[in-house]
Amino acid sequence: MAEVVVVENELAAGALIAASIRDLIAQKPDAVLGLATGSTPLSVYRALAASLVSDPLDVSRVRGFALDEYVGLPAGHPESYRAVITREVVEPLGLTAENIHVPNGDLASIETAGDDYERAIVEAGGVDVQILGIGRTGHLGFNEPGSSFASTTRIKTLTEKTREDNARFFDSPDDVPMHCITQGLGTILRAKHLVLLAFGDAKADAIAAAVEGAVTASQPGSAIQFHPQVTVVVDEAAASKLTNLAYYKHAWAHKPAWQGL
Ligand code: F6R
Repeated sequence: MAEVVVVENELAAGALIAASIRDLIAQKPDAVLGLATGSTPLSVYRALAASLVSDPLDVSRVRGFALDEYVGLPAGHPESYRAVITREVVEPLGLTAENIHVPNGDLASIETAGDDYERAIVEAGGVDVQILGIGRTGHLGFNEPGSSFASTTRIKTLTEKTREDNARFFDSPDDVPMHCITQGLGTILRAKHLVLLAFGDAKADAIAAAVEGAVTASQPGSAIQFHPQVTVVVDEAAASKLTNLAYYKHAWAHKPAWQGL
């Protein structure tokens, strides 16, 4: 079962997960991080960046794989996930740019880009910790409802709901690409540790479905129930529709310190 941790706010979530990523890098200097984009993981990246300033750690060998990318945006578009990962993760953390991979959303090579990305992840030895957000459709990465639990990196069509949600990053809703390339649910499930973060009321249904709902391709987030090590970090609003909330809080309050995250 997923471990559900209810935190006061995004800052507390960022501090908790950044500390666990620091521990991982201290033990494994070439750790492989799975990087989500969107608003949700920003508190983690910011807390990690701040902690690397106050207490430096060699991150030059850290490797990273983004979850997804839009298809067909012009190279260098500020909302391409390559640009977002550079701006929000690589630069503030001082990572080595060549170590950080983002699926290739160029139309010219899209037919082979998925297999190329899968190969690169395998060659890196797999992802150690995968940071995840969740969409209102229940998507992980851009695996919209109906995605196979065994899926690998491939092109997908975004739902209109996701395009609406992501319109805030673009000048006009029509500018949000129709297609993306995303790690599959099968790819995500191969990461050693999944950390799923969610904040706010708008995510409460998706979190309840992912953590406690039926395992179904109609709720891609429910794929986490197949994974042996999942940490779900939520605020009270995102946790509000969880039936067993009191138990999760009780278990976290009494967790043996030696277990870590
Ligand atoms: C982003 C990604 C998506 C987002 C999700 C939530 O790389 O894969 O699954 O995590 O759409 O987005 P935010 O965090 O902006 O609410």
